[in-house]
Amino acid sequence: MVKTVRLEPISQATSVETNGNLLSVLINKDLDVLKECGGRGMCATCHIYVKDGMDALSPVNRREQRTLEVITTCKPNSRLACQARVLKDGVVVELPPGMYVNSIKDIEALIGRRAEQDLLHPITGQVLVEAGKLITRSMMKQIEDTTSFNVGQYFSQSSEH
Ligand code: FES
Repeated sequence: MVKTVRLEPISQATSVETNGNLLSVLINKDLDVLKECGGRGMCATCHIYVKDGMDALSPVNRREQRTLEVITTCKPNSRLACQARVLKDGVVVELPPGMYVNSIKDIEALIGRRAEQDLLHPITGQVLVEAGKLITRSMMKQIEDTTSFNVGQYFSQSSEH
């Protein structure tokens, strides 16, 4: 059995096996999802909003709840796509705008350019650089200082617990 899921604002519909997760829907649509934690419910890179059909998804689990609590752009209809499984028809997903950066090196390569879209922190979803703003070295330093920005370290630490 398959269920239909709609994606906004790109206005696309796609189908997924019943009980399949929303992450597979996004990947099938060639959306660039970093999956920084490998689909373990521990990052913000698969964070989406459910515009409609929240009750057609599996309930939020404890790990997902804990991660959602630190995502700064979290709303009552937030879910992690890797954790939300599609049980019924009628789910409408709204993709949050922005692009995630998964290492300080990613930003370093962008210094001197304007951000084409918001650059988001992969753990908290916080906007690090707004779209249209120039990415400067001092901005990078600020990001480093304010966010202990070492995602690789974050995940190796968290898997030890
Ligand atoms: S891929 Fe990390 S929480 Fe879903």
